[in-house]
Amino acid sequence: MAIEWTEDLTVGVSKIDDQHKELYRRINQLLEACSQSKGREVIGETINFLGEYVVDHFGQEEAYMQKYNYPEYPKHKGYHTEFIKSFQDLKARFETDGPGTHIIIMTNRVVVNWLNNHIRNVDNLLGVFLKDKL
Ligand SMILES: [Fe+2]
Ligand SMILES: [Fe+2]
Repeated sequence: MAIEWTEDLTVGVSKIDDQHKELYRRINQLLEACSQSKGREVIGETINFLGEYVVDHFGQEEAYMQKYNYPEYPKHKGYHTEFIKSFQDLKARFETDGPGTHIIIMTNRVVVNWLNNHIRNVDNLLGVFLKDKL
């Protein structure tokens, strides 16, 4: 049930595309750990590992936006902030209920769907804007 980064998700900025690929790898690690019913500790680590990477990645995109005075910066950053909140809900759910299929379902709903949509619609516009600047 692995998710896959595909060419159509490219935004045209290699640093951002590479980080998106890494995000997909980390999401897969989490989904795999859940489906293999790994222990609470291992799954907790993959959740933290993914969460930290997401924050770093958003920071990188926001640094580009600020550096080049991207007009959509506040809106784009707002989406990132919303995502971090949803991710914290997932973490909280894990802390109260532990591992299980609910984590797979939440990861697909909160992380995978959001990310696919965000990359295609929001990061893609940033990529177009950055293309002639980097
Ligand atoms: Fe992104
Ligand atoms: Fe973004």
